[in-house]
Amino acid sequence: MSSVGMKILMAVSGLYFIFYVLMHMYGNLKVLAGQEAFDNYAHHLRTMLEPILPYTGFLWLFRLTLIVALLAHLYSAFSLWSRAGSARQERYRVKKAIGASISSKWMRWGGVTLLLFVIFHLLHFTIAKINFNGNYSESQLRVNGVESPYLLLVAAFKVWWLVLIYLIALVALGMHIHHGTWSAMQTLGFTDTARARNTAKAAGTLLAAVVVIGFAIPPLAVLFGAGTIK
Ligand code: HEM
Repeated sequence: MSSVGMKILMAVSGLYFIFYVLMHMYGNLKVLAGQEAFDNYAHHLRTMLEPILPYTGFLWLFRLTLIVALLAHLYSAFSLWSRAGSARQERYRVKKAIGASISSKWMRWGGVTLLLFVIFHLLHFTIAKINFNGNYSESQLRVNGVESPYLLLVAAFKVWWLVLIYLIALVALGMHIHHGTWSAMQTLGFTDTARARNTAKAAGTLLAAVVVIGFAIPPLAVLFGAGTIK
């Protein structure tokens, strides 16, 4: 595939992730509405479009689209990375990136950090559902014997170092979205005029700010006392 084709693949899959992340952020904010609201929401995600689809059928179709987007994003990122590396074998004697923002310089390693975070995050809340908070037993994190995503989340964010891990991941995510939005706009041809370039930059900054603040609210609220476990 041409490098331009790969950049388009990266831009489109990246924009799809932004859509997902905004939805996820919105869902997480329901933690502030309490156990019933959050757990009902999590349950609803699994029963959506029933009985046309089986239990968790819609969720799995959605997960499939995320996996395809992730494979496309990683494939194009690593191919472009290795092409850029082999294009110039010799090291630059002096390398100055003029006008490059911090977030643009951190795209590669920030992306790797995010990938590691997502693996940890899926193990934490979805695949293994790990309770890192020794103050609560497994049975305390259940409601009428049923696992509660809300209680697992509240138990997690009463642990300061877990909050710190999530906040570090959010900084990486914010920087990735900040530069990624601009980069995607450029690839898709929305930065032809000075005005369009300003709009693309503002969109990147706004999206990054909304996502970082929106995601940071639930962990910080819990750390500072919100959320109860009986
Ligand atoms: C403070 C930040 C975050 C919190 C509190 C949080 C919380 C959660 C929770 C509770 C679940 C399990 C939901 C359930 O079982 O119904 C989940 C799933 C997930 N989260 Fe997050 N999340 C955060 C940030 C992120 C970020 C930044 C990403 C991506 C870059 C992400 C990607 C995912 C994915 C892919 C799933 C799996 C969804 C599925 O079941 O298919 N999360 N998250």
